[in-house]
Amino acid sequence: MKVTVVGAGNVGATCADVLAYKEIVNEVVLVDIKEGFAQGKALDIWQKAPIDLYDTRTTGSTNDYTKSANSDIVVITSGLPRKPGMTRDDLIATNAEIVKTVTENVVKHSPNAIIIVVSNPLDVMTYQAHIVSKLPRTRVIGMAGILDTARYRAFLAEELNVSPKDIQAVLLGGHGNTMVPLPRYTTVGGIPLLELLKDKAKLDAIVNRTINGGGELVQLMGTSAWYAPGSAAAQMVEAIAKDQKRVFPVCMKLEGEYGIKDTYLGVPVVLGKNGVEKIIELELTADEKALLLTSSGHVKEVMDVLDKINASK
Ligand code: NAI
Ligand code: 2OP
Repeated sequence: MKVTVVGAGNVGATCADVLAYKEIVNEVVLVDIKEGFAQGKALDIWQKAPIDLYDTRTTGSTNDYTKSANSDIVVITSGLPRKPGMTRDDLIATNAEIVKTVTENVVKHSPNAIIIVVSNPLDVMTYQAHIVSKLPRTRVIGMAGILDTARYRAFLAEELNVSPKDIQAVLLGGHGNTMVPLPRYTTVGGIPLLELLKDKAKLDAIVNRTINGGGELVQLMGTSAWYAPGSAAAQMVEAIAKDQKRVFPVCMKLEGEYGIKDTYLGVPVVLGKNGVEKIIELELTADEKALLLTSSGHVKEVMDVLDKINASK
């Protein structure tokens, strides 16, 4: 199983490292536009193999996609990250061009790959990769929901003083301020969260902290996060590579699910060797539905901005 990670920066290199040390696949190719950068990161990860005891082969290339040929899965992390004061949507013009060029190269050399997009603004960059690649919607998907639910689960674990391993959660919508965490569908060791956390103010604070989770880290570090995002992308690769049929929220094109069409949004799916094998439609309350529609409306507005950028080229 061969995986290419495009963008050897913070998120891409972390993803490649997790894929290697967990031996999720046997070959990882890193590609970056910056001369020597991907080769250097790949060599560093390979030199860690005798210490951490793995044999996944990692190599790098400066923008040479022949090295990535016939990859089964490609993770796209290339693009600018946020700086303090920026929203993810501020990145659209630069990252749209990068994701377009990268996707063209990816499908030229790996026409059968499943593509996982990480670059921001995530939902709209998934749209860009989907329209450029012309692959089925089940094979061009975005990573955000695993990260956003991980933040939510981590905050809940802290509040309840329990292991984060025991918190299961799902979240819908765009990767931004309109995401929709779903406390009603959150459990702690099989126990509904709402039976354990009855203080509404505390729960609302956790939901808000989750929604602003990316921004909190940008404020602290001056750039966006990478450990959790890199691991989250690797977890999607693992589900596909091992045909695990894991249930995760991922971003993809909706064609009528949840009553929403032609919009790229996070929804729970079954992820296996064919990419998205099933979309799970949850019963939502009127309030949850309204939040999802607001999120969908926001993503659609940014998709329209992308359409204008693409039309002007
Ligand atoms: P970074 O700046 O550390 O790395 C980005 C890399 O992309 C750089 O090494 C750069 O040289 C490379 N690159 C730029 N143009 C390229 C091209 N045309 N071809 C190949 N490589 C190219 O940024 P970081 O922190 O790794 O973030 C990457 C992206 O992921 C950003 O857009 C960020 O906003 C996004 N992100 C998304 C998350 C999500 O949940 N979906 C979470 C965290 C970051
Ligand atoms: C995050 O949520 C910036 O999208 C990135 O950390």
